[in-house]
Amino acid sequence: MSTKEKPLIAIVGATSKQGRSVAATLLRSERFRVRALTRKKDSTEALSLEKLGAEIVTVPLEPGSQKDLIAAFKGADGAFLMTPPIAPPQTTEAPLGREMADATVEAGVGHIVFSTLENVDKISAGTKYAPHFTDKACVADYIRGLPISHSFIMPAFFYTNLLEYYVPRLEGDTLLLPVYLPEDFRAPFVDPLTATGPVVLEIFSNPGRYNGKTLPIVGDIISPREMIETFQRVTGLKAEYRNAFTRNGLLQYFPEFAANELLVRELLGMVEYAVEYGYFGKEHDLEWSRRLNPDTLNWEQYLRTTGWRGHRRSFGL
Ligand SMILES: NC(=O)c1ccc[n+]([C@@H]2O[C@H](COP(=O)([O-])OP(=O)(O)OC[C@H]3O[C@@H](n4cnc5c(N)ncnc54)[C@H](OP(=O)(O)O)[C@@H]3O)[C@@H](O)[C@H]2O)c1
Repeated sequence: MSTKEKPLIAIVGATSKQGRSVAATLLRSERFRVRALTRKKDSTEALSLEKLGAEIVTVPLEPGSQKDLIAAFKGADGAFLMTPPIAPPQTTEAPLGREMADATVEAGVGHIVFSTLENVDKISAGTKYAPHFTDKACVADYIRGLPISHSFIMPAFFYTNLLEYYVPRLEGDTLLLPVYLPEDFRAPFVDPLTATGPVVLEIFSNPGRYNGKTLPIVGDIISPREMIETFQRVTGLKAEYRNAFTRNGLLQYFPEFAANELLVRELLGMVEYAVEYGYFGKEHDLEWSRRLNPDTLNWEQYLRTTGWRGHRRSFGL
């Protein structure tokens, strides 16, 4: 099969952790061509995707970009859609998601995969505020009503949150890890950089099998206490848990959040939701992604593979 005949997959947020994983996995499979959508053609991440063989297309990722999105999706057999991190009071996530989905229909794309989360508002009967979950669920509902074949992925919490957002700090000879979850609460986690691609490759390889389905992506189900015990065993460093899941705990370790009260409410709402209702709805098979890809990293394997020893990482953005 010549390169031209391979199905073309357009990837929104191709330089993101999720998008980068999808782009690299599809290209390495040699079964797909990739069109990488980015705002910045000359970023290190965009250039490295180009080197891997992706076609790079510049598109602004904000509502009102319908024309650019349709042009970027033209000729694609499939599209991977994700929304970037959008903090309240901004409310652009759902309109952006709907616009992307509309553009794929308009462009005649064959199958779309959208990265979604649960509808926290609905599940908690309006008692928990987590718009970055609920807005994605509303986009997924919107996609279900469109005349296009579609699937959803639903990633667990990212291990990378501890590396780029809730960064440990050194006190004497001990690393303090302020974690946004209660110490003994077991939550699902995953490495978006290595686990997203294999799942999306499987979906685009068998779109009929996964049409209408929501696939959770999980690398481990583990508590902060277990994460820190593992961290100490793997790195040989002294480490202790610190509470960043209550308002006081969060603001003690991350006082900068106090400038955005809605963001504080969202972070607390997300955690309360996860603890009280479970991160994933009970209908999901949380073993599915690990059966599909036995190389999906658990926390210990993540630490051993990345060599992380508590320092801040930015993932190139
Ligand atoms: N953290 C978690 O635990 C977790 C779990 C499940 C789901 N999620 C969801 O995953 C999404 C983020 O995925 P990710 O972490 O893979 O993304 P990421 O690494 O933060 O990258 C976001 C990408 O979006 C593009 N972008 C466009 N507009 C942007 C903007 N206004 N701000 C920042 N980036 C922008 C950037 O690409 P260019 O600069 O190349 O355009 C960037 O590469 C969020 O919607 C989040 O809610 C997160």
